[in-house]
Amino acid sequence: MLEINDLVKTYPDGQQALRGCSLTVPAAEVVAIIGPSGAGKSTFIRCINRLVTPTGGSIRLDGEELTTHRERRLRETRRQIGMIFQEFNLIERLTVMENVLAGRLGSVGFLQAFLRRFPAQDVERAFELLERVGLGGYENSRADALSGGQRQRVGIARALMQEPRLLLVDEPTSSLDPKVARSIMALICELAGERRIPALINIHDVGLALGFAQRVVGLNAGSVVFDGPPSAVDEAVLTRIYGADDWRDAFRQEGEEDRHLGSREAVS
Ligand SMILES: Nc1ncnc2c1ncn2[C@@H]1O[C@H](COP(=O)(O)OP(=O)(O)OP(=O)(O)O)[C@@H](O)[C@H]1O
Ligand SMILES: [Mg+2]
Repeated sequence: MLEINDLVKTYPDGQQALRGCSLTVPAAEVVAIIGPSGAGKSTFIRCINRLVTPTGGSIRLDGEELTTHRERRLRETRRQIGMIFQEFNLIERLTVMENVLAGRLGSVGFLQAFLRRFPAQDVERAFELLERVGLGGYENSRADALSGGQRQRVGIARALMQEPRLLLVDEPTSSLDPKVARSIMALICELAGERRIPALINIHDVGLALGFAQRVVGLNAGSVVFDGPPSAVDEAVLTRIYGADDWRDAFRQEGEEDRHLGSREAVS
C-alpha cells in the first residue's frame, strides 16, 4: 500500500508545485493522474522515487517512510520502484535484451553487470517478459531500430524486470499515435493488474485514463481536486480539473468526445 500525506514541493525558485497532496493506493490499484500542464503531475510521481526531493509531507510504501531515506536505503527503494517514461530512456546502442536486463542492474553486482553476465534465471525472465509485452523475437534488435510503440514495450519490460513493488508511469503514450497509445495503456494496466502492482500513471489523454484506470485523481495547481472512480468523472469534474474551456477544447480537437465517454462506459 502507498500512503501519501500532505505532500508539498516548493522548487528553489519559489514555484509551489505541490500544495499538500494526499493519496492512499491499496495494493494492485491502477490510478490515473490527470490535470493541466503544470498542475504538478510529474513532480508528484517524482517525489515518490526522489528524483525530486519533497519539501514536506510523508510518503509510505507498505508502512516504510521513504522521504527520510538516504543513499543506500534510497538506492534500495528506487530499485523496488519501476519507472516508465514518455521518452522511453532506452540505451540506443544496446539490444532489446540488454535494455531489459538493465532493469536488473541495481541488483546484480557491478562487475557482473559490466561483464554483462546476468544470471540464467534473469535472462529467462527477460525472454518471458519480452514475449508478454509482444516483443518475442526482437531480443537482438538494437533499441534504435524500433518504432515508438515497440520502444515503450521495451521500457515496460525493463520496469517489470525489477520486480517492482510500485509502478510510476509519466506520460507513457504522449509521443505515440492514438491506436498504439491505447494498446500501450492497456498493456501497462493489464500487467499491473495481473502482477498486483499498484501503479500511478500520469496521462494527458482523459479518454485513456477513464477507459483503463480503476481510479482517477485530478490535480490542479498543485492540489488534488478530484479523487474517485472513472464513472464519477463528468463534465463538472473535468471543469474542476481543467477549467471549462480547456477540457472542452481537448475533447473537440480530437473530435472524439463520444468515443472517449463510450469507452469509459464499456469498461466501468
Ligand atoms: N525543476 C523545476 N524547477 C522549478 N520549477 C519546476 C521544476 N519542475 C517543474 N517546475 C514547476 O512546477 C510546476 C509543476 O510542474 P510539473 O512538471 O510537475 O507539471 P505537470 O503536471 O507534470 O505538467 P505537464 O503536463 O506539462 O507534464 C510547474 O509550474 C513547473 O513549471
Ligand atoms: Mg509532467
